[in-house]
Amino acid sequence: MKSILPVLRIVALVTIAFALMEFLIPTGGELAIVKYPILLLVLAVVLLVAIAIEISVAALGSILFKSLNEEARENYLRKESEKEAKFGKWFKDLSSKLTSVKPIETEGEILLDHDYDGIQELDNDLPPWWKYGFYASIIAAFAYMAYFHVFGGISQKEEFQIEMAKAQLAVEEYKKNAPDLIDASSVTLLIDEADLKIGKQIFIEKCVACHRADAGGGIGPNLTDEYWIFGGDISTVFNTISEGGRPGKGMISWKQDLKPAEMAQVGSYILSLQGTNPPDPKAPDGDLWVAEKAL
Ligand code: HEC
Repeated sequence: MKSILPVLRIVALVTIAFALMEFLIPTGGELAIVKYPILLLVLAVVLLVAIAIEISVAALGSILFKSLNEEARENYLRKESEKEAKFGKWFKDLSSKLTSVKPIETEGEILLDHDYDGIQELDNDLPPWWKYGFYASIIAAFAYMAYFHVFGGISQKEEFQIEMAKAQLAVEEYKKNAPDLIDASSVTLLIDEADLKIGKQIFIEKCVACHRADAGGGIGPNLTDEYWIFGGDISTVFNTISEGGRPGKGMISWKQDLKPAEMAQVGSYILSLQGTNPPDPKAPDGDLWVAEKAL
């Protein structure tokens, strides 16, 4: 008993340190120790310090013990063994109380009077540890009912929905900050001056050869009018830039050359030119685009 006490103390200390860290360090659901692996180092230090303290205390104890005279030593040892005996007895009493059964000598008193081909049955009480566990579960059931059905505790389903809503927000936030994840279904029309300026740069570099500097059209169609072959909403325009036009027409797929964010920028720039009526435009291609069509 005495020899495992220091070990128990060390384990308890490290456990408390761990629990404190998990409790005090906000991590948004993750284990702190997983999120910040440096905490493992902190735990290791706590462990080492605990071991060092135990060793020092034990060493001090044995030095003090050696400095005692014969009588005092005996006195000390007796007291220690008394302490241990007391604890042992308490433990034994408790466990026998929790596991008490009818002693085998008096079993006859609880023998039921039926007999199945020689198999008989004792009417034993449930072992007390079992019974107490049963009572505890009854109490827990009331606590559970009160918490979830009377005081409106959050059910698993609601917990799930809250988590999902949080995750949804996180995904949206992530997508916002990671523009290169944009695709035709998530792209939005950019109206920011800075974005349109970059879009214009890209247009001048890559697109004017066919669509003309004012986008009035050349080899490629006029991009400033309301007539579109594929569609005049940002999502369709993005898709055309990304995937290209019909085979053999000259409009290649740009997704190898341009990042999704850049395709959104040049697409938005093109759409910002709607209705600019450049001189001498190319005749309309495609159909009159009515925004409602997209709905
Ligand atoms: C080699 C010439 C060429 C270049 C360079 C070119 N395009 Fe095109 N573009 C075309 C042609 C031709 C079409 C018509 C495709 C079809 O009919 O299928 C087209 C169609 C389009 C359309 C669809 C128009 C509609 O009516 O639906 C968009 C949008 C577009 N281009 C944007 C761009 C952008 C942005 C760039 C620069 C990144 C670019 N194009 C570069 C030739 C080009």
